[in-house]
Amino acid sequence: MNTSLHPFKRIAINTGGGDAPGLNAVIHAAVHAAHTHGWEIHGILDGLDGLLHPENYPDGGVIKLTRPFVRNIAHLGGTILGTSNHGNPFKTRVPQPDGSFTEIDRSDEVVRRFREHRLDALIAVGGDGSLNIAHDLNKKGLRVIGVPKTIDNDLECTMTTFGFDSAVSFATECIDRLHFTAESHRRVMVVEVMGRYAGWLALRAGIAGRADAILIPEIPYDIAKIAAHIKRKTSSRDRQYAIVVVAEGAKPLGGGVTLKEAASAGHAERLGGVGEIVADRLQKLTGKESRTVVLGHLLRGGQPTSLDRSLGLNFGAAAVRALAEGHDGVMVALNPPRIDYVPLRVATAKLKLVSPDDYGVMTARTLDISFGE
Ligand code: F6P
Repeated sequence: MNTSLHPFKRIAINTGGGDAPGLNAVIHAAVHAAHTHGWEIHGILDGLDGLLHPENYPDGGVIKLTRPFVRNIAHLGGTILGTSNHGNPFKTRVPQPDGSFTEIDRSDEVVRRFREHRLDALIAVGGDGSLNIAHDLNKKGLRVIGVPKTIDNDLECTMTTFGFDSAVSFATECIDRLHFTAESHRRVMVVEVMGRYAGWLALRAGIAGRADAILIPEIPYDIAKIAAHIKRKTSSRDRQYAIVVVAEGAKPLGGGVTLKEAASAGHAERLGGVGEIVADRLQKLTGKESRTVVLGHLLRGGQPTSLDRSLGLNFGAAAVRALAEGHDGVMVALNPPRIDYVPLRVATAKLKLVSPDDYGVMTARTLDISFGE
């Protein structure tokens, strides 16, 4: 049955940026939905690398996706297509003779190869970076539908992104476990979680895990205030330990983020290390032994929760529906009870950050959880 308003024959799907649980569910649903319309669907490997560096793929960087091929993948973590968070064709990293790197724009090659593969449209599954690239490719004439993915939950216009619930669930389980060891040793345990410049992951997992303090980028912290809070909360004999959840993008009052690696040509800056700094300072200021746990990429691994799996399936089906209904340059977005189509321009204009009146911020204050304000 071909119900399409547009005479598509072959569409493409790619997954870009850091992986997130639920990517394979999107692919599964998109493949099934495309076949319902009688369209072929092809997967571009490793973000856009399959188009940008075809020489690296002896069997081709673009593969045909059939229903049998994706039959048993919806519950799996990772992405069967591979991904890359260094593959921006508008800023391709090129080594220089002196060992440094520069950036060049190779987006025309991507557009040309897309056409050579006779692809009519792209379903781009990604976070803020990949959807910005998708938006720029759309401006160059590619028909594009975006699908919002990220464990950071920092995309505007959608109630949530898939991957976030799996990361929050895992972080909460880790914090639950840390209560036992923290209590046994009467220590301060500092748990650093990902999230880039947004505190969603730290906030939601910190509340669910009953943390004593949560440090997020949106509320710069005063370490002396957190230390005083911990001293007060651990002053009675029946509660002598504390749990502090720190977002990797958290910053002290008047200070900046902690970097593992500064930005360089074609590579974004890498955050990380603030947990260790906070633990050191808290040990000195509270006199309590402190340890740090960095959850890092464990937050991106594992199977999607049923919520993320279902969201991925719904988004994948909606992306194909958007194409069939004639949409272009939009992102599918969860706006219960609907999945809406939001212009990529609007969805990528700014990051969604935790606002001071977020219900989680209110709840944390009610539960005597400090932000170090
Ligand atoms: O955007 C997802 C994310 O996991 C961030 O939370 C984190 O800062 C970043 O990706 C880590 O990226 P990489 O895989 O390059 O270490």
